[in-house]
Amino acid sequence: MQTYQTLSYDDMGKKAASIIASQIILKPSSVIGLATGSSPISTYKSLISLCAEGTLDFSQVKTFNLDEYVGLPVSNDQSYRYFMEDNLFKHVNVDPSNIDFLQGTTADPQQECKRYEAAIAAQGGIDLQLLGIGHNGHIAFNEPSDHFEYATFMVELTQSTIEANKRFFASIDDVPRKALTMGIGTIMKARKIVIVATGSDKAEIVKTAFTGPITPQVPASILQLHPDVTLVGDTEALSLM
Ligand code: F6R
Repeated sequence: MQTYQTLSYDDMGKKAASIIASQIILKPSSVIGLATGSSPISTYKSLISLCAEGTLDFSQVKTFNLDEYVGLPVSNDQSYRYFMEDNLFKHVNVDPSNIDFLQGTTADPQQECKRYEAAIAAQGGIDLQLLGIGHNGHIAFNEPSDHFEYATFMVELTQSTIEANKRFFASIDDVPRKALTMGIGTIMKARKIVIVATGSDKAEIVKTAFTGPITPQVPASILQLHPDVTLVGDTEALSLM
């Protein structure tokens, strides 16, 4: 694993964006896996700047996102599809037909998960997957468990994730209880992984995930087995490494 420590959250975003930009410059039709949450926002800001100044061209890039809430329409400002539009897609020249997203309002979640896996495979797999890490070690919506999920699946969110997400909703009752998410197997098949971590509240889990035992109780710990992982964190998040 390659680790980069940066002085600030903005620098973390610049570093992670440089890695993603290198991937896209070397292979303009790259398949990029994206994440939502607060951690990657500075990365997206830097990608937007690189695109605006003409260094980066998204016109052939294909994107998949890690996850989406079940039941939230794309128009809901808490849907992950809405987040991506707001924080990246509408600011860069990505072709909308090259954006694939898990459909949270599907009538048949099982079929939707199968469709997503097949769509990723049809694009030749993910070249680079961007990740954040949850306080309990979750990646995408793979929560601590007694096993690693192989493929995209529907998950019941844990109480701690519902609690963590309630700040974005009018009340805790409005927080969706289920999500569709890439499985650990889907993520591990990406050829390159970039994980961003920011803030002192992530220091403990970053240390546990990358230096502790590999266990489905800490889903991110499986990344220790991936051949090409780059951890980009600010000083606070990497303070215990
Ligand atoms: C987002 C996702 C989540 C987040 C994680 C960290 O698509 O799948 O696993 O990466 O919850 O979230 P932040 O960055 O908000 O701390």
